[in-house]
Amino acid sequence: MVNPNIHRVLDEIPSHYDRRQEVEAFDSTKAGVRGLVEDGVTKVPRMFFSPPDWNSEKIASKDSDHFRIPVIDLGGTNLESVDAVGHKEIVSQVRRAAETWGFFQIVDHGIPVEILDEMLQGVRKFHELPKEERSKYYTRNASKGIVYNSNFDLYTAPAANWRDTIACFVTPVSPNPDDLPREIRDTLKEYSKQIMKLGVALFELLSEALGLNPSHLNDMGCSEGLVFAGHYYPKCPEPELTMGTSKHSDNDFLTVLLQDQLGGLQVHFQDEWIDVTPMHGGLVVNVGDLLQLISNDKFKSAEHRVLSNHAGPRMSASFFSTTTLPSTRTFGPIKELLSQENPPLYREIMIPEYVKVSNEKGLDGTSPLSQFKL
Ligand code: OGA
Ligand code: NI
Repeated sequence: MVNPNIHRVLDEIPSHYDRRQEVEAFDSTKAGVRGLVEDGVTKVPRMFFSPPDWNSEKIASKDSDHFRIPVIDLGGTNLESVDAVGHKEIVSQVRRAAETWGFFQIVDHGIPVEILDEMLQGVRKFHELPKEERSKYYTRNASKGIVYNSNFDLYTAPAANWRDTIACFVTPVSPNPDDLPREIRDTLKEYSKQIMKLGVALFELLSEALGLNPSHLNDMGCSEGLVFAGHYYPKCPEPELTMGTSKHSDNDFLTVLLQDQLGGLQVHFQDEWIDVTPMHGGLVVNVGDLLQLISNDKFKSAEHRVLSNHAGPRMSASFFSTTTLPSTRTFGPIKELLSQENPPLYREIMIPEYVKVSNEKGLDGTSPLSQFKL
C-alpha cells in the first residue's frame, strides 16, 4: 500500500534540516514523547520518521495457525510439582520454540496475574506523572542507577522511536528503594523477586533443552544479573510514519516481557512479521544474543519490533537477564555443545564489551552478533 503520508515526508524535509538540533530540543524538555502528546501534537516530528526501508517492511502479519508464537504451559504455581513425563514435554516444547522462533509465551508460570497488572499500572503511573515530577528522573547517565528517558539511542539511531522508558538494575546491585519513584517502588520489588525465581527455572529448562545438566546455565551466571525497563508507548497521531520500537534483537541472555492488552509487538519469522498476541496473565520469553552465542546458534535471538498505534498508551515491562557489572569473565560457545561437526562459531566475549558495541550502535536494524563471529 502506498503510504498516504509519504508526500508529507518528502515535502517537509527542508534542505537545511538539522537533526541534531531537533533531537537536542526534544531531549531538553525532559518530558519524553509523552510530553509531546500532552502538548497536543498532531503531527509526528521529523526526527521520529522511520527510514523508508523500515516502512516498506510494514507488511501485514499472517494470522494463521501455522504462524502462531508457541504458548507453553509451565504447569502451575509450583514448577517442581510437574511429573517427569510432563517435565520432559515442557523441555521439548522449550527446545522447539527456542530453536525455531526464539520466542514463546508462557502461562501458568507461577506469578499471580495481580502482580503483573500492578507492574503495568506502576509503569503507567510513573510515565503519567506531571512533567515537573517525572523530569527529575530524566537522565542519560546510567551511573544514576535509575534512568528515565526517551530513546536510549536518541543521538545515534537513524530514527527516534515513539516511546519512553524508565530503567534500572534489579540485581546483583539494586537501587536504593528511596531513590525509586514511589509509583513503581513496591511493585517492582515484588515483581522482581518473582521474576528472579522464574528466571532460574527457565534457565534450568533451557539447559535441559540444550542437553546439559539442568543447573548449567545458572552456574555460568546467566541468571545473575537483571535489568528492568518499563516502556510507555503514547498514542501516536501518525503511526505509519514512526515505530514504537524499531526492529532489534536483545543483547542479553534471555528476556521476560510483560505486555498489556493493546498489541503491537511483532517477531520476525520466515520473512514475515508475526503478531505476539497479548495474553492476559501470560508472559513473553525471548532468547537474546548472548544465549544464541553461548548455544553456538542452536537457539535463536529473533528480531522483533513494536508498531506505534493511534490507540494508546501501551505499557510493557521487560526484564533482561544479563550481567552489566564491570566483569572480565568471558563467555563463548559452551564446550559441551561443540564437536568436530559443530565447531565454535563465535569468539569468547566479555559481556560489557558486547553491550557497549550494541548500545553504541543503537537500534539501527542490524545485529551486533555478526561482529563476534569467528
Ligand atoms: C525490549 C522490547 C518490546 C515491548 O524492551 O527490548 O523489545 O513490547 N520491548 O515493549
Ligand atoms: Ni527487545
